[in-house]
Amino acid sequence: MKSTVYIETFGCQMNVADTERAAGRLRAANYQLVDSPAEADVVLFNTCSVREKAAQKVFRRIHEVRSGAPIGRRAPLIGVMGCVAQLEGEALFDGAPKVDLVVGTRATDRLPQLIEEARTSGGGIVDLDERRANERWEVASCDRRSPYVTYVPIIEGCNKFCSYCIVPFSRGREKSRPAREILEELSALKRAGYSEVHLIGQNVNSYRPKVEDGLEGVRGATAFSRLLRAAAATTGLPRIKFTTSFPRDFHEDIVRALEEHENLCNWVHLPVQSGSDRVLRLMRRGYKVADYMQRVEWIKGARRNLSLTSDVIVGFPGETAEEFDMTMDLVEQCQYDGLYIFKYSKRSGTPAAKIPSEVSKTEMTGRFLRLEALQRTVQRKIYELYRGAVVSVLVEGLSAKSSSDWSGHTTCHKVVNFPSSGSDLAGKIVQVRVTAAKKNSLYGEQIIDWD
Ligand code: 5AD
Ligand code: SF4
Repeated sequence: MKSTVYIETFGCQMNVADTERAAGRLRAANYQLVDSPAEADVVLFNTCSVREKAAQKVFRRIHEVRSGAPIGRRAPLIGVMGCVAQLEGEALFDGAPKVDLVVGTRATDRLPQLIEEARTSGGGIVDLDERRANERWEVASCDRRSPYVTYVPIIEGCNKFCSYCIVPFSRGREKSRPAREILEELSALKRAGYSEVHLIGQNVNSYRPKVEDGLEGVRGATAFSRLLRAAAATTGLPRIKFTTSFPRDFHEDIVRALEEHENLCNWVHLPVQSGSDRVLRLMRRGYKVADYMQRVEWIKGARRNLSLTSDVIVGFPGETAEEFDMTMDLVEQCQYDGLYIFKYSKRSGTPAAKIPSEVSKTEMTGRFLRLEALQRTVQRKIYELYRGAVVSVLVEGLSAKSSSDWSGHTTCHKVVNFPSSGSDLAGKIVQVRVTAAKKNSLYGEQIIDWD
């Protein structure tokens, strides 16, 4: 009988992509993937460490799984992979409940062997080796969770070292994947029936492969804009999205590429983090508010209507009430289609952790709520503008909230729900007339083309 594996994923899209890759490897090694820890011989947690207390959260979850194991069944082997694994390493063996296996961010490909070793030795296996990195760019065998929309990593790691962020430590330095390989994978996904692919990376627009094999003769001011044009022109994919973009490396030519190619989707995620130059300097972001606003102008001034989303951190150490107000002003000015707001979370080992004058928890929550309320107002206005418009929706499945509704995304990455007419629309791109704007989604009715 095949051994069974359950993988639980936390955090960003890179982790989702890593889980798909791990699942593919494990299936090829004759494991059966299952949907619940109770059925599993091996339980893996693919972890995120962006926020504080990440390790405690993992241990809480392991405890739930261990104590929820069916009576009479052998306790599963427990493995921790992802960012917490890379950062904590062997220290994870010292905690309770017991962890058997620790797999760093660069060791995903070696999972099948590592599990075997852990089973033979009764645990205590750790692989954090960055030198013997994954052949991570050879992505032949991913086990993708959706047959319609998927992620393709183009660059991994981060060289930016923003003062608050743990990612450069957990994911290592930026490493760009060869363009030819990416383009071949995109074409293969198109042949396999995918309609939408997200090019992902901590900073996609910092993409800089060692050689530009595959991009010969492609126009563009940066390797990333050349990759975008090549992907749009040669793969036949109806929708290509990309995230996340780093402001300093955001070249105007990206906007030009979006104007030229309809299948490059009209959505840019450009995290600003703060509206104060002093805070941005302390964050070591490498740009000023004016530089950021210049990019916003390019995006808003495009010949196509581009939707814009962002990330903001509130309560960075020493952030004054006036500096927070500058963030409020910036958010008002940018009119974001969506905003992820994070309360500052101290990560030990990062430079920001040494800055004294922390913002109190109450003050931080107050700022969070004020910014959230402002964004809600901004967003309501933007979403209302869609009422009456016809949008193109890639249907991903039935809505989680109501099984009589289909749910999907627009090219500008907004959720759209509409009543099901009975026929199976999953995976189809349909036209929907928007009839109502909700807090974080649009509602509408499908326009049936009778021809
Ligand atoms: N505290 C709060 N938010 C953080 N982010 C990254 N590190 C931290 C931290 N220490 C946020 C940033 C980033 C997003 C992915 O997570 O806004 O853009
Ligand atoms: Fe973290 Fe900054 Fe790199 Fe983003 S760019 S992953 S916030 S260090």
